[in-house]
Amino acid sequence: MKTVKSQTETFQKTGYIRFDFSSDLGHPESQKQLKQLAQEFAELPLDPYNPNSHRYRRYSRGIILPWNNEFHWLPNYQTPDGQQRCEYFQGAYNSEYAEEYRAFSPLSEATKQIPLLSRIIQYDYEQTFWDQRTLTMPIHVGVHFVKMLVRDAQAESVASPDHVHQDGEPFTFCHLVERTNVLGGTNLIATPECAGKKREEVQPHQIHEEFELNHPLESYGVCDRMVSHYVSGVRLGAEDKVALRSAILIDYVPTVISIP
Ligand SMILES: [Fe+2]
Repeated sequence: MKTVKSQTETFQKTGYIRFDFSSDLGHPESQKQLKQLAQEFAELPLDPYNPNSHRYRRYSRGIILPWNNEFHWLPNYQTPDGQQRCEYFQGAYNSEYAEEYRAFSPLSEATKQIPLLSRIIQYDYEQTFWDQRTLTMPIHVGVHFVKMLVRDAQAESVASPDHVHQDGEPFTFCHLVERTNVLGGTNLIATPECAGKKREEVQPHQIHEEFELNHPLESYGVCDRMVSHYVSGVRLGAEDKVALRSAILIDYVPTVISIP
């Protein structure tokens, strides 16, 4: 694995990086913690905003204090009927939910305490690069657990949005947790101009790289303004079992103070 420094230089130049956190799994304790993360994925609720998408998810938020690198989880929001929720807002960047708040079930408190998850959050943060002035305020960290799962040959699990896009969050990282019997689930990194296009509308010269994440904790990250990205739908592979792709998505957004 490249050193963090040379990796960050590549990231600043190209707008994306691919890396592998699996060297961390050499420790038996990390293997145990990865199993605990996978357990949270086994129990994810269906995405309430698109029950036909074969997509399951949970979402929680935290902050990093850039002056001492401390990470803290933020509290959940409790609905009047007592349910725990965490709100997510992408402004105009997700055309499927433009200017809409979506509220998801949060990660369990036990999952939030898994040290491997904190290490991944800290590691990704170390790859990011900011205007120094930004670093006098907390950085907001959005942590999504997303599972794409299909049981029959006709079904397809699609990401949201289901086209090449930018997220509107300055940095996003993706860490595979599990991939089993999947056809598709292919990642694309392209030039920013491709945002809004369907995969088939993207010209070869606009593609930086197209790849699949195959083993646990294989990862990539994007600097949102420098590239666009996409993951294709997940279909059933040739084996006699469900198709499953589970990933942790982590985004980093600066605190912006604006009172209209
Ligand atoms: Fe995205």
